Amino acid sequence: MSITEIDKQYIANTYARFPVELVSGKGAILKDSDGKEYIDLGAGIAVNAFGVADDEWVAAVTEQLNKLTHTSNLYFTEPCARLAQMLCERTGMKKAFFGNSGAEANECAIKVARRYAFEKYGDESHSTIITLKNSFHGRTIATLTATGQDGYHTHFGPFVEGFVYAEANSLDDVKRLAEENNCVAVMMELVQGEGGVCKLDEAFVNGVKALAEEKDMLIIIDEVQTGNGRTGSLYAFQQYGLNPDIVTTAKGIGGGLPIGIAMLGEKVQDVLVPGSHGTTFGGNPVCCAGACSILSRIDDNLLSEVKAKSEYIFEELGNAQGVKSVSGLGLMIGIETEKSAKDIVNACLEKGVLVLTAKTKVRLLPPLNIGWDELKKAITILKETIAE
Ligand SMILES: Cc1ncc(COP(=O)(O)O)c(C=O)c1O
Repeated sequence: MSITEIDKQYIANTYARFPVELVSGKGAILKDSDGKEYIDLGAGIAVNAFGVADDEWVAAVTEQLNKLTHTSNLYFTEPCARLAQMLCERTGMKKAFFGNSGAEANECAIKVARRYAFEKYGDESHSTIITLKNSFHGRTIATLTATGQDGYHTHFGPFVEGFVYAEANSLDDVKRLAEENNCVAVMMELVQGEGGVCKLDEAFVNGVKALAEEKDMLIIIDEVQTGNGRTGSLYAFQQYGLNPDIVTTAKGIGGGLPIGIAMLGEKVQDVLVPGSHGTTFGGNPVCCAGACSILSRIDDNLLSEVKAKSEYIFEELGNAQGVKSVSGLGLMIGIETEKSAKDIVNACLEKGVLVLTAKTKVRLLPPLNIGWDELKKAITILKETIAE
């Protein structure tokens, strides 16, 4: 049996895979089982921040693999302590909780908000969280409930209580929900990734910030996709001048290994106590050693490269034939096209360029350090394909 056949027979049918078996890669170049090469503008959906098999990351991970792979959270280990320290120093957050995925980071955020409300009011009366329509926060039952898209909810009820959904960019709607419910928090992505790469308006975010202060609601920013240099700053909230109470992240900081992080600000830093939350693999030394290596390289130089590449893509595609609009921030870009996005993705695949979709748009999430030559070549192919 071929790998495709084995996969189809034995793996749960949750993914509509492309007819390609990837076997290896270096940086932004991937190779399939026929030896065909692809320029990767998807980075494993914003995970491979420095592409695949990145030398520095491989060295950091390998060194830790040879030293200590797993201990459980009953003992202290260096990589997670160092990672938490680096994250807090660079974000102003106070503490980090480590899990294994974006959904798990958001689960932690939800638990922290609820427990904060319980401690404050002595019961569960103020535990509602406002999330935005068109958002995506994960696929566990609670994060699926938090996700403001009906399409993801179908067939999985009953859901957990305590979530209400506001129209993205409508401060009136957030205000209305805050009046109608006893809310503990507003949770949002600053650029809605799965929702179609839609950037929130600054005026809206500022309004939510002011409302949260007035109503004593927590601000939870989901930076699972926007985080770790993706939008041109270490975290997108830093461009919005926010001071969030909880920031969640995952994807790019792992560089390819699973990690999810909930960063806790001053107000909530002491909400979690021994026994209140945990996970077996959280803070895994190998994942954290890799993440330290990734985080240490998301510096001003890399971030200005991200911005320069973003400007290049916006300029190239902004007025290109067949393009209706370009949205996003940094290297998180959505392209609304006249032709179907799916057809474009398939045609690009044929031509050796990997791109993604987000709803009806073509989505680009290239490795942050993609070489200019590779990027220009891939964008030229993409432009031609969109125009055809
Ligand atoms: C904004 C956002 N939050 C949460 C998640 C869920 O992350 P994971 O798939 O690692 O659980 C994703 C995944 O795409 C995401 O984009």
